[in-house]
Amino acid sequence: MAPDKDVFSGGVAVVTGAGSGIGAGLARRAGALGMTVVVTDINEASAAETVAAIEAAGGRAEAEKVDVSVPGELDRLAELVFDRHGEVRLLINNAGIETVGNSWEVPAARWEATLNINLHGVIHGVRAFVPRIIASGKEAWIGNLSSVGAFGQMPGQTAYTVTKHAVQAFSECLYLEMELKALPIHVSAIVPGMMRTNIFNAEAGEGEPDNAAKHRRAMFEMMRDHGMDLDEGCRLFLEQMAQNRFWVHSQPEMSKQIIGGRVKFLQEQIAPIMPDIARQIAVD
Ligand SMILES: NC(=O)c1ccc[n+]([C@@H]2O[C@H](COP(=O)([O-])OP(=O)(O)OC[C@H]3O[C@@H](n4cnc5c(N)ncnc54)[C@H](O)[C@@H]3O)[C@@H](O)[C@H]2O)c1
Repeated sequence: MAPDKDVFSGGVAVVTGAGSGIGAGLARRAGALGMTVVVTDINEASAAETVAAIEAAGGRAEAEKVDVSVPGELDRLAELVFDRHGEVRLLINNAGIETVGNSWEVPAARWEATLNINLHGVIHGVRAFVPRIIASGKEAWIGNLSSVGAFGQMPGQTAYTVTKHAVQAFSECLYLEMELKALPIHVSAIVPGMMRTNIFNAEAGEGEPDNAAKHRRAMFEMMRDHGMDLDEGCRLFLEQMAQNRFWVHSQPEMSKQIIGGRVKFLQEQIAPIMPDIARQIAVD
């Protein structure tokens, strides 16, 4: 039996940003494996769509509107889930946005949204849920959405890159905190390469500077044409999490290449390395 069919065949899964993309894919996969899935998203209608898809496939799911950029909403969610179910076996801190624009041109509100959703959303997901998971005494798995962007530098996506480097560092420290305390909570950094989702859709760029549109469009087309199939990627993610792996990849070769560049950068203390595509899609 594949380990995910064993480890995630029951219990409760909570996924943030599960109305679309990777969050929706992970929620559907957890539902298909037999978990009761709490599908959360800032967009209530899209969360309901994911729930409908899980139920149509014979699974169990419930939708909750949650904005991860507000710490109190994650406290409310944790309280609600533990009141209702008394446990959480799988927590996926997934909700995230891309932000395109030169660092000095991204408006303050978009900077704040990026940091609050991508970084604080993960931190406060852990802060709200972990004490309750510990009190339940049950084994649990936490996956935080990092990125291959956590290991490189991408001009024009600085706000996003900053948050992913930070989520990676947060996940590494969290893993060690669990080890020091000998807690039965397995922490994974989920590192997608390039998966076909809505993160670069034009409407998701509202609040970015006008000159970001060309870069956003080029990324959208690249993901549409070369992105990995979502269901396949999400199947791989849960399979690796079920093996208690810290590193969880969709495209291990892509991760290896980018991490290799980072290792060279750090070891040789050279100047930041320009990614191949960066000049072609540079923000004006
Ligand atoms: N798609 C990729 O190739 C890729 C690569 C690396 C990392 N990631 C990461 O995967 C995660 C999911 O991205 P995706 O590509 O599936 O994007 P997506 O845009 O398809 O889905 C993101 C979901 O998050 C929700 N969301 C946005 N703001 C929110 C908020 N404040 N509170 C709650 N939900 C909110 C959106 O409504 C949407 O349903 C992100 O953290 C992203 O950085 C994606």
